[in-house]
Amino acid sequence: MLEVQQIACATVAAVRAGRNLNVVLAEQRARHPQLTSQQLGAVNDLSYGTLRFGFQLDCILAELLNKPMQDADLRWLLLIALYQLEHTRAAPYAIVDHAVRSAAALGHAHAGGLVNAVLRNFLRKREEVLAKAKHSDVGRFAFPQWWIARLCTQYPQHYAAMLEACNTHPPLTLRVNCRRSTVADYLAELARHDIAAAQTGAWAVRIQHPVAVERLPGFSAGVVSVQDAAAQFAAPLLDAQNGMRVLDACAAPGGKTTHLLERAELDLVAVDSDASRLARVQQNLDRLQLKATLVAADVQALGSWWDGRPFERILADVPCTASGVVRRHPDIKWLRRAVDIARFATQQRAMLEALWQVLASGGKLLYATCSVFDEENTRQIDDFLARHADARRLPLSEAVSTNGIPEGQLLPDNEHDGFFYALLQKI
Ligand SMILES: C[S@@+](CC[C@H](N)C(=O)[O-])C[C@H]1O[C@@H](n2cnc3c(N)ncnc32)[C@H](O)[C@@H]1O
Repeated sequence: MLEVQQIACATVAAVRAGRNLNVVLAEQRARHPQLTSQQLGAVNDLSYGTLRFGFQLDCILAELLNKPMQDADLRWLLLIALYQLEHTRAAPYAIVDHAVRSAAALGHAHAGGLVNAVLRNFLRKREEVLAKAKHSDVGRFAFPQWWIARLCTQYPQHYAAMLEACNTHPPLTLRVNCRRSTVADYLAELARHDIAAAQTGAWAVRIQHPVAVERLPGFSAGVVSVQDAAAQFAAPLLDAQNGMRVLDACAAPGGKTTHLLERAELDLVAVDSDASRLARVQQNLDRLQLKATLVAADVQALGSWWDGRPFERILADVPCTASGVVRRHPDIKWLRRAVDIARFATQQRAMLEALWQVLASGGKLLYATCSVFDEENTRQIDDFLARHADARRLPLSEAVSTNGIPEGQLLPDNEHDGFFYALLQKI
């Protein structure tokens, strides 16, 4: 556990310094080839969990210290140990002992007494400390204050449940390839492999206890793909029919590209500005035995990739704050700033403007984000409609139902991630 604590400590500190969690974890795996798969799993759990609950753990730590902790390494070590004490089943005495030794290994042998006292104090006064920490919104919800305030204003009825849902472990949801199987048949196949699962959408199956994808029957043969249930709405909403010319404007890693192609025979162009991510689209196409034309380009620079032939359908799954998928990427809580929302909204606006030019008359464009902030969603679309007399917004199917929240906005819950869809037609 000692080494695991220290590697997790370096990982979360790197995220705090502005780096992407998955990239840092990949580097840690390469740097520490001696770690067993169990230890790697523990590093992942401590890193993800500490970032997920870090804002709350910080409030707990503040209750346990007389003055703020200045040293960043020691602070992260204490947050990791508090996460372990509160959210894992490791023996408390071992957690405390290893934290004291980790402090020494990090060059803070003098702080061993403090680490020991803080953690033991937490164990002694846990209920009282937790209650005090949860007096503030940040301590209650484990999110930055600006994020909580925004959701509270936007969703006064739903924000508490949303924030709580965003602190849970994300479900593992699969999309059954409609060319290869049915939900009923695949559920039966899972049952034969002792994997408990249930249907959670037209073609969506949720696995009860997440397993490695290699263990999923038929995965490598393309019978299923991993895709959240909310993301699975995109292809049916776009309603691309056999023979249509379709643009997937922000395609990588290809979850929605492949869904579109499973459902119909399309002349599909998949564009993404990130060539390395585009390679993952090709891998997914190969696994599923599907074909598309892949283009690495900035989709807004029409002159660099467009041949002048309009598209009948366009999927614009634009870059966004990803605030609807924060439970899958808890580093977002630390990496995003409130000002990023306006930055993304400006980029999305420019993309929409460019894509509208390549949409055929009568054609449909599906705008999608995995965000819950209205500047990127409803307001973006309202502004677009106000600027374009040749655009109208089409109603979405019942499946993307909205209960007192803006049309097309899916809130994160037990079933799916937070997402937004708006279907536009050129008239
Ligand atoms: C939300 S992700 C797309 C997810 C994908 N549709 C799927 O379902 O798997 C957004 C993508 O937009 C790409 N992107 C960002 N700016 C772009 C641009 N100017 N032109 C094309 N792609 C861009 C990013 O590289 C990223 O892969």
